[in-house]
This record gives sequence, structure tokens and C-alpha cells, in this order.
Amino acid sequence: MEPGDDLISKLLGATHDGEPIDVGTVLGIVALVLITGIDTTWSGIGSARWHLVNHPEDAARLVDEPMLMPLAVEELLRAYSPVTMVRQVRSDTEFAGCPMREGDEVLLSFPAANRDPEAFERPDEVILDRKHNRHVAFGVGIHRCAGSNLARMEFGSPWKSGWPGFPPSGRLRGWR
Ligand code: HEM
Repeated sequence: MEPGDDLISKLLGATHDGEPIDVGTVLGIVALVLITGIDTTWSGIGSARWHLVNHPEDAARLVDEPMLMPLAVEELLRAYSPVTMVRQVRSDTEFAGCPMREGDEVLLSFPAANRDPEAFERPDEVILDRKHNRHVAFGVGIHRCAGSNLARMEFGSPWKSGWPGFPPSGRLRGWR
């Protein structure tokens, strides 16, 4: 089979320090992308849809003002962040009065951070056109999500192609 213009072909042809990447590493990367790329987006899109079903005024607003979509995507990601991560403590320390020992596992609750009242005004409200929205739904730092822009595109695409049951022209009655 000839290599194509796809991720797996690129990985199989890639080198690190002049050596080809071994097949085990390629398989690991493929598994990582599969796992990170699937349940994140379906949970996020599912939560967004759940919100819009339960808040028809927001759904109607998006139908009337489709240009709000990019801001709305960020706000729905903030309010319904689907991912939490675990980190391992490297040495004994204390954070905000909480002692941590080397080897402890710490849950990084990105959803909680995204509703921090010190970081967000009215954090428990979904404000579709929220302007200041430095959410951490995609994490922060060196391991920040590698697929965040793909995820943002995926959020918009079911909307453009018509979510199942979504009214094409603002007819919200019976949309469940
Ligand atoms: C709504 C959708 C998504 C959310 C909320 C999300 C969120 C996250 C978060 C919180 C992390 C961990 C950051 C950290 O450990 O600090 C992460 C890592 C990652 N994500 Fe996403 N993600 C989404 C979609 C995707 C998609 C579509 C892909 C690719 C197809 C992807 C690929 C990755 C990869 C490869 C990593 C690991 C990065 C690393 O460890 O260096 N993600 N994502």
C-alpha cells in the first residue's frame, strides 16, 4: 500500500534524531489521537445540544444570530467542559493549604476552574456572547489539547449541516 497524505502515513515516514519512529510509538500516537478525539467531542457536542434543548431562548438566538457561533462554542465549552485530567505530584508540596506528597495523584478539574467566580463573571450562567472567556476546557501548558482547533470545527459542523431535529428556520416548538 502506498503512503497517503494522512496522519498514519506521515508518522510512519517520520524520523526522530535521524531514526525512523518505531511502530509501537506510532501505534501509541494513533491510540492517543483516537481516544482523545472521540469521547471529548461527542460529550461536548452532546452537552451543548442538551443545553440548547433546555434553553430554547439560546437556541433561538443562535438561529437568529448565527455569527455568534464562535463565541457560543467557547462558552458552551467553558460551561460544560468534558475533560478532567490527573497529574502525579513529583515532590512533597502544598497548594492553597492542601498538603501533597510525592507520588500522589491530583485531579485537575478543568470544569471547576471554568466556573471559578474569581475568573468569570456569573460563572454558572451560559452567556452565549461572553467576551472575556479565558477558559481551560482544553487544558493549559505543555500538554494543552493538540486537537483544540479541530474540536472547534467539529462543534460548528453539526450545526451547519443541521443537527438531527434542529429546526432549520427558528421553529423551536416540538424540538426535542
Ligand atoms: C471538545 C473537545 C476536546 C476537549 C474539551 C479536549 C480537551 C483536552 C484536554 C483538557 C487535554 C489535556 C490537557 C492537559 O493534560 O493539560 C487534551 C489533550 C489532548 N487532546 Fe484534546 N480535547 C478535545 C478534542 C480533541 C480532538 C478532536 C483531538 C484530536 C483528534 C484531541 C487531541 C488531544 C491530544 C493528542 C492530547 C494530548 C496532548 C499532550 O498530552 O501533549 N483533542 N484535550
